[in-house]
Amino acid sequence: MNLILLGPPGAGKGTQAKRLEDGYGLTQISTGDMLRAEVKSGSEIGLQAKAIMERGELVPDAIIIAMLAVRVSAPDIAEGFILDGFPRTVPQAEALDIMLKEKAMPLHHVIELQVDDAALVERISGRFTCAKCGEGYHDSFKQPKRAGICDRCGNAEFTRRADDKAETVAARLEAYHRQTAPLLPYYAAKGILRVVDGMAEMDAVARSLEAILGPPQ
Ligand code: AP5
Ligand code: ZN
Repeated sequence: MNLILLGPPGAGKGTQAKRLEDGYGLTQISTGDMLRAEVKSGSEIGLQAKAIMERGELVPDAIIIAMLAVRVSAPDIAEGFILDGFPRTVPQAEALDIMLKEKAMPLHHVIELQVDDAALVERISGRFTCAKCGEGYHDSFKQPKRAGICDRCGNAEFTRRADDKAETVAARLEAYHRQTAPLLPYYAAKGILRVVDGMAEMDAVARSLEAILGPPQ
């Protein structure tokens, strides 16, 4: 099964993608995580992307599409993938359609997580992430069960993102509404858009996703 999770920054795409990986055996493909790895390694892509990401703007389509084309050719997505943070513009969606058609891979669902802008700012400002497995946590909404230890992998190191500052979050939300929201009618016209209330608590969002996808095998 191949899915896209669509939604504004902080909507819970990464949180739910991790749960779908664990429950359904799908592979998360997060362009944000891929870009942060490029920045960390100091690669050419990382050097180009770093300042753009810190301003909360979108990295140019050509860079993202080339990076994604390599990723969807890897064998580990044979059981299915969850795209998290891609596509983010209509040209990215069009490029994805071409890539998947060439590989005869269907796109089963595009799921929009709907969350109010005010809630997003609160979610992003309290976020921290396991440095090893990427599991997401929150100062108020989701602390590790054992203080300082990741529930998912047992690691004891966590990170906070450079672009999670309030002023950058405003720019990221603006980019979402202007450049990414047009993907909603794009996928609605294809008949594969599903909408989930992302304001609900995490377990309820997971149950709504399960109602769409069917129970894990
Ligand atoms: P990216 O890494 O994709 O970030 P984003 O889209 O801004 O999304 P986030 O990761 O912030 O949020 P999320 O929806 O995953 O929420 P999460 O589950 O963590 O992109 C970063 C940057 O990279 C972009 O700004 C851009 O520059 C660049 N980029 C990436 N892809 C690109 C592309 N395709 N094209 C161009 N540029 C690209 O949840 C947030 C917090 O809320 C967590 O703390 C979590 O614990 C908590 N939470 C989650 N669900 C709930 C809930 N139901 N109730 C309460 N709290 C919750
Ligand atoms: Zn972990």
